Amino acid sequence: MSNVYVIDHPLIQHKLTIIRDKNTGTKEFRELVDEVATLMAFEITRDMPLEEIEIDTPVCKAKAKVLSGKKIGLVPILRAGLGMVDGVLKLIPAAKVGHVGLYRDPETLKPIEYYVKLPNDVEERDFILVDPMLATGGSAVEAINSLKKRGAKSIKFMCLIAAPEGVKAIQDAHDDVDIYIAGLDEKLNDHGYIVPGLGDAGDRLYGTK
Ligand code: URA
Repeated sequence: MSNVYVIDHPLIQHKLTIIRDKNTGTKEFRELVDEVATLMAFEITRDMPLEEIEIDTPVCKAKAKVLSGKKIGLVPILRAGLGMVDGVLKLIPAAKVGHVGLYRDPETLKPIEYYVKLPNDVEERDFILVDPMLATGGSAVEAINSLKKRGAKSIKFMCLIAAPEGVKAIQDAHDDVDIYIAGLDEKLNDHGYIVPGLGDAGDRLYGTK
């Protein structure tokens, strides 16, 4: 079963409250999504493997730890996931960035991939898939399918706000994918919005409506 981590850090919760507020404008919204993504990246990388190397400090030789070079692939789900990319890259600047684009088939309402571009060494990378909102989970499940179809073996999913329905959808379809959330909300409404949520993340990030 997927592990679900709600990152209940005071800084994240404070910033998330401002993000949720409908009076927060595009510029501040975008900046805060970026900051929360950075803070979440700190937590999501907690299990990164380390190795010991020998260095010379100004005082003596010392053994010290460095990341053991595990390669990371960062993949935003278009379009709103783009808002989290730079924030994660601040902490993991060497990550390669792939993209997954999905649209909703108007008849079946199922997400269909229209664009997938990943680093070519997919099997060797640990992937972090990002999308600010985990609502029904349809897009996240399909994006994970897209990564796995191309050989991805290790995937974490990171979002700002999740509905319980979305968490369950990932757990049911991909129980090997751990889920990192800043806020776990109450439910989805009849229009598929997360309640209380923050509205449409893509529109709020890019000032569209
Ligand atoms: N996508 C959004 O941007 N907001 C929601 O509430 C649900 C899905």
